[in-house]
Amino acid sequence: MTNLYEQAWPLIRAVAAANRAGDQIENGALFAFDGEKLTPAATRAARPILRYDQGWRSLLDASDERQVCLDMYLPLLAARPAPPLVLAQLGQSLDGFIATASGHSHFVTGPTSIVHLHCLRALSDCVIVGAGTVAADNPRLTTRLVDGPNPVRVVLDPKLRLPLTRGVFRDGEAPTLRVRARGVPLPSELESANVQELEVATLGGQLDLPALLGELRSRGLRTILVEGGGVTVSAFLAAGLIDRMHIVVAPFVIGEGRPGLRIPSAAQLQDCVRPPPRVYALGGDILFDCDMRSHSAAESVAPIIRRVL
Ligand SMILES: NC(=O)c1ccc[n+]([C@@H]2O[C@H](COP(=O)([O-])OP(=O)(O)OC[C@H]3O[C@@H](n4cnc5c(N)ncnc54)[C@H](OP(=O)(O)O)[C@@H]3O)[C@@H](O)[C@H]2O)c1
Repeated sequence: MTNLYEQAWPLIRAVAAANRAGDQIENGALFAFDGEKLTPAATRAARPILRYDQGWRSLLDASDERQVCLDMYLPLLAARPAPPLVLAQLGQSLDGFIATASGHSHFVTGPTSIVHLHCLRALSDCVIVGAGTVAADNPRLTTRLVDGPNPVRVVLDPKLRLPLTRGVFRDGEAPTLRVRARGVPLPSELESANVQELEVATLGGQLDLPALLGELRSRGLRTILVEGGGVTVSAFLAAGLIDRMHIVVAPFVIGEGRPGLRIPSAAQLQDCVRPPPRVYALGGDILFDCDMRSHSAAESVAPIIRRVL
């Protein structure tokens, strides 16, 4: 990891830890950073570097090297009383694919983007993946490349097609919640002490995603990362449930493969989803950080590319 992450990441981790402490943070509160944790800074004389005002705001100078990382990560750090957050990510090729047709996806994006993905996991209470990703990748979904806690792993396996031999069900590296459609019986050969079970209602043959988010929040999981694959992220997007989306584009062409975002198309371009983006360079990749709740016109945000690493 480069200096920028080494300098900014401890501060970002401290903000995440303050959020997880579960205390309500008053608007207007000022905080300093002692190198490990945030400390209240009652006045500006105490040299605060963060202010809470319906979200975290940086008081660092724009010239401070940490600022670009704070710009990228602070919007993801939902403290009480701010509402919980659903973040989605995908790494895709220039032509919009997230894996080859055979399901090979290691790795679509470069090493810097993979570190960034591990940072996103470390800032999230849980990470959701579809059964297709667990079948194809056998992912661990841990934060092994960065300093930070592993999120709870949530696997959408509505028909229970995945065998217990998949790592998330047996490695014990983090809690795993298996989500199946209500009414699908759990056969004894799929029972495991390592796996928590959750049944969710279906709507039109699909999992009721608002009901799923309600279940996760009732378990204290407030920052939710939808990590893939394309079918799963698209289902959340089509249901209007994504607050923030990180799409990383790697400059190569897959040709034909597993698609990223696919949602019902609007007839007119002006009716398409067009969130205002911030744009960052992650190694040789480009990250589009899209605020899906903003009512600003996409053109109103200067698409300045800032290099993180
Ligand atoms: N580049 C990246 O960022 C990235 C990230 C993750 C994965 N990948 C790659 O993407 C591929 C897998 O992606 P994918 O799009 O094919 O599949 P996926 O999204 O991983 O999984 C889709 C499956 O998950 C279940 N599911 C998801 N949402 C559901 C809902 N709302 N209701 C009911 N079931 C739901 C369904 O399981 P059933 O089929 O059992 O009904 C569905 O077919 C793999 O090749 C993987 O390597 C790439």
